Amino acid sequence: MWLPDLDGKSGPKYQSIALAIGESIASGSLKERDRLPPQRELAYQLGVSLNTVSRAYCEATNRGFLCGEVGRGTYVRVHGHLPSSNTGNGMMRTIDGPVDFTLNLPAHGNGAIALAETLETLKHSNALSSYLDYQTGNDLKRHTRAAASWISRLGFEASGDDIILTNGAQHAIMVALLAITRPGDVLLVEPMTYAPVKSIALHLGLILFAVEMDEGGLSPQALDAACSSTAAAVLYCLPTLHTPTTITMSSERRREIAEIARKHQLTIIEDDVFGFLQSHRPPPLAGFAPDLTILISSVSKCLAPGLRIGYIHAPKRLQRALRAAVNLSCWMPPPLMAEIASMWIEEGTADNLNEFQRIVARTRQKQAQQILDGHEVLSDPEGFHLWLLLPTHWRADTFRAAAEKSGVKVLTGETFAVEQNTAPQAVRLCLSHEISDERVNKGLGILAGLLAETSDPGLLVV
Ligand SMILES: Cc1ncc(COP(=O)(O)O)c(C=O)c1O
Repeated sequence: MWLPDLDGKSGPKYQSIALAIGESIASGSLKERDRLPPQRELAYQLGVSLNTVSRAYCEATNRGFLCGEVGRGTYVRVHGHLPSSNTGNGMMRTIDGPVDFTLNLPAHGNGAIALAETLETLKHSNALSSYLDYQTGNDLKRHTRAAASWISRLGFEASGDDIILTNGAQHAIMVALLAITRPGDVLLVEPMTYAPVKSIALHLGLILFAVEMDEGGLSPQALDAACSSTAAAVLYCLPTLHTPTTITMSSERRREIAEIARKHQLTIIEDDVFGFLQSHRPPPLAGFAPDLTILISSVSKCLAPGLRIGYIHAPKRLQRALRAAVNLSCWMPPPLMAEIASMWIEEGTADNLNEFQRIVARTRQKQAQQILDGHEVLSDPEGFHLWLLLPTHWRADTFRAAAEKSGVKVLTGETFAVEQNTAPQAVRLCLSHEISDERVNKGLGILAGLLAETSDPGLLVV
């Protein structure tokens, strides 16, 4: 009989049981349509009251993990439509073919169920025709209010008046750079950065300048020096769950960075796309320098990337230019998608979906810790990715090629490096996108096997 693993869980028992149900689904030990033990029996096995188990099942149902059928018991919900074979489409989650650790995407969660319910509700809405129309500032107010309440969960008092809707975070980055830079400007970035920023900079004629990081994230001294030597006016950075290194800047470090920015009147574009994954996190940089920071968030990692909804929270003086850049690039995000995101935020569905992503991240990071034990790894218990520093006998490119030959796809630091040949010999592994724990285990096992090899086969190739 399945029993919840309550080890290390504190707080009310019913919540621990609900959390354990989520973890078991995430790890695959409970599968779709599995029947949960009868409440009375589980209560007996755990030595808790029947009421506790009933509340736990109710909580897990509210979180979208379970469904009950009168007279037939409680079951794990079907999460939606899983791909049944390898379609060859890189973004698809496949159940065969190579294990893909290259994509920093959320887990296949309960979103499809939530979407079905939301569409059912929307079917009866009298606002349907407005979703088919261009929307104005007033129509969008409802969404900026929802966005503000969502962003405020990050530990930062956001105001709906200061929020601009975008088609996701990538669009928001493009919008910010379109609005506040001109060709020939210097853009300060971390030495390894979100790869598309390198391409956007190239297209906009920006000159990237890498500012050193240390183990705490962006170095305040290096930023100070870079501002003085380049007279740059804009910094793009990833203070939370930096990709690829996973580093999250502490509050103290954020305060220091904000002070340097203030000294040089630097505008910060803060990419906080992973911010919702951490349950305990420092406030965004925007909290330390709201007048200087364009905070970028999106629902892609915490809810679903297909919604294509992102949020910019910006100082008043920049809002006109930012709104103009949104209009210029896409007019507005699709109103129906904005409506779904806002409904999910208002109803608490977003919190539940987000929590599911954290559960998957925690489960998979634990697996990785065990399988890669003894190797140098930078990670975060609630991050999607980890940064595997290779032993000296492996070069990143030959490791990547050897891994691919063995059926595992990874990315090397070169993908993210601003200057060529400066990336450490390391690879990024994204653990959440894969459809099952078994595939993640298999992929990690293959990589552990390669790491244990004593020589780099790539170096033997002439
Ligand atoms: C660091 C970072 N920023 C931004 C994005 C873009 O997110 P969105 O899907 O919201 O455009 C991604 C997506 O992978 C990302 O990893």
